[in-house]
Amino acid sequence: MSAARQLSLEVNGQRHDLQLDIRTTLLDALREHADLPGTKKGCDHGQCGACTVHVDGERVLSCLTLAAQVEGRPVTTIEGLQTADGVMHAVQTAFIEHDAFQCGYCTPGQIMSAVACIREGHATTDEDIREYMSGNLCRCGAYPHIVAAVRDAASRLKEAAL
Ligand code: FES
Ligand code: FES
Repeated sequence: MSAARQLSLEVNGQRHDLQLDIRTTLLDALREHADLPGTKKGCDHGQCGACTVHVDGERVLSCLTLAAQVEGRPVTTIEGLQTADGVMHAVQTAFIEHDAFQCGYCTPGQIMSAVACIREGHATTDEDIREYMSGNLCRCGAYPHIVAAVRDAASRLKEAAL
């Protein structure tokens, strides 16, 4: 027996009124119901980080979060990272400039995680970046470039804040 419920999600500043089974994860709600496929499913078990999004500005694994848990709380996905007039976030720019992706499948999660990592103050050394980005797996082995991109973005954002 399915238990459908009307849920109102706020994603990237837009309201989505969705009719969802209460067991629907935030990841599936985004991908299959809100037409936002940028957030990826690599495992659905909390082990790869491809599904990383922000809830209340904090990084979370959307495969381990029920859509019902985030009702009324702001969600940001990779599609909402650029400004309204389409200017990319410093982390997005840095990922392109440093070739920090190959197939691109882990990349939305890497970028959302990196934005939060910098905001948390965990991007001051390469060692810290490696440790605090270790929840995001990349089978293309782009890790050295990801570290360089996060380091660069962190310093650009620091300068911008001065
Ligand atoms: S899909 Fe969520 S951690 Fe892998
Ligand atoms: S770029 Fe392919 S998995 Fe990371």
